[in-house]
Amino acid sequence: MKNKLEELIKGNRLLQVLHDKVLDSKFYDEGLNLKIFNYILSYLESRPENEITPEKAYFKFIKSYNKDMKKFAETKKYPLEIDENRATPSRYEYDIILLFSCIFAAHRFRIMQLIDSNSNSIDNALFVGCGPGLEIELIKSKIKSIVAYDFSLDAFPQKQHPKVNFIEEYFDGSDTSQKYDAIYLIELLEHLDKPYQLLENCKNVLDNNGKIFLTTATNIPQFDHLYNFESSHKEFDEKIKDLGYKITFVEDIPHQSLTLDIKAKNRFYVLERNN
Ligand SMILES: C[S@@+](CC[C@H](N)C(=O)[O-])C[C@H]1O[C@@H](n2cnc3c(N)ncnc32)[C@H](O)[C@@H]1O
Repeated sequence: MKNKLEELIKGNRLLQVLHDKVLDSKFYDEGLNLKIFNYILSYLESRPENEITPEKAYFKFIKSYNKDMKKFAETKKYPLEIDENRATPSRYEYDIILLFSCIFAAHRFRIMQLIDSNSNSIDNALFVGCGPGLEIELIKSKIKSIVAYDFSLDAFPQKQHPKVNFIEEYFDGSDTSQKYDAIYLIELLEHLDKPYQLLENCKNVLDNNGKIFLTTATNIPQFDHLYNFESSHKEFDEKIKDLGYKITFVEDIPHQSLTLDIKAKNRFYVLERNN
C-alpha cells in the first residue's frame, strides 16, 4: 500500500515529474530518499487539517519563485532588493517548501546527502537555522549532544528531537561556555546581510579540531535571500582564509530548472581551523 506522500506524488503530474528528476539524478540514493520521506510523513501527520494543503503551499512557492527568476534574469536583483516589504510564507508553508524541496529538487537532495556523508562521530554539534530539523534527523545518531538555533521555531522539530536543546534566537557566538566539534550552517549564510560576521562568531565556539559544514547560494532569487555569493567564490575563499579557516572539502551543486537557466547553484564547504 502506498503512503500519503506516495499517493500525493502519484496523483499529481508536476510532483511526479519533479520527483522523477531526483530519482534520475546522479547522486540518487534509495536509503536517503526513504529517510526523507519518513520525516516528511511525520511532519504531515503532525499538522492540523485546516491549513493550506502541502501541495498548494509548494506550488505557490514554485509559482512565485519562477516569477522571481524571470525578474532576476532581467534585473540581476533579488526580490528583497525590488521590494523590501516582500511578504513571506508562514512557518508551516516555509517548512513544507524546505522539506518538499529535498524530494523534488536534486540540489536539496544532494545537500542532505553531503551533510550525512561528511559527518562522523561527533560529540557536540551546533545547528544554526535548523528550520524543520531534517538535517538533525539524518545525522542525530552520529552525535552525542545537539544545540539548534532558529529565530522562528515550529513545534514539530522540538517534538521529533526531544534530546536536542532548541534555542529560538539569532546565534551570535556570545556564549563561549560551550564548544562544538561540528557546526552546521545549511542554507543560512545567504539569509544574512553580514554572513562573514557569523563565520567569525562561529570561531568563538568551534573546537580546535572542529569542522564547519556550510552552504552558500549563487543566483538563487528566493523571497528571503539577502546575500548573493559570486559564482567563482574567489572573495568568499579569501575571506575564509583571512578569518583563519582552511577549506577541506568543496562541491558545486548546480540547480536544474524546468523553465529558465539562471546559473543558480549552491556550494557545499567543510572548513577547519587553520591552526
Ligand atoms: C533556508 S532555511 C534552511 C533550514 C534548514 N537548514 C534546511 O536546510 O532545511 C533558513 C533557516 O534559517 C532561519 N534563519 C534565518 N536567518 C537566521 C538567523 N539570523 N538566525 C537564526 N536563524 C535564522 C530561518 O528561520 C530558516 O528556518
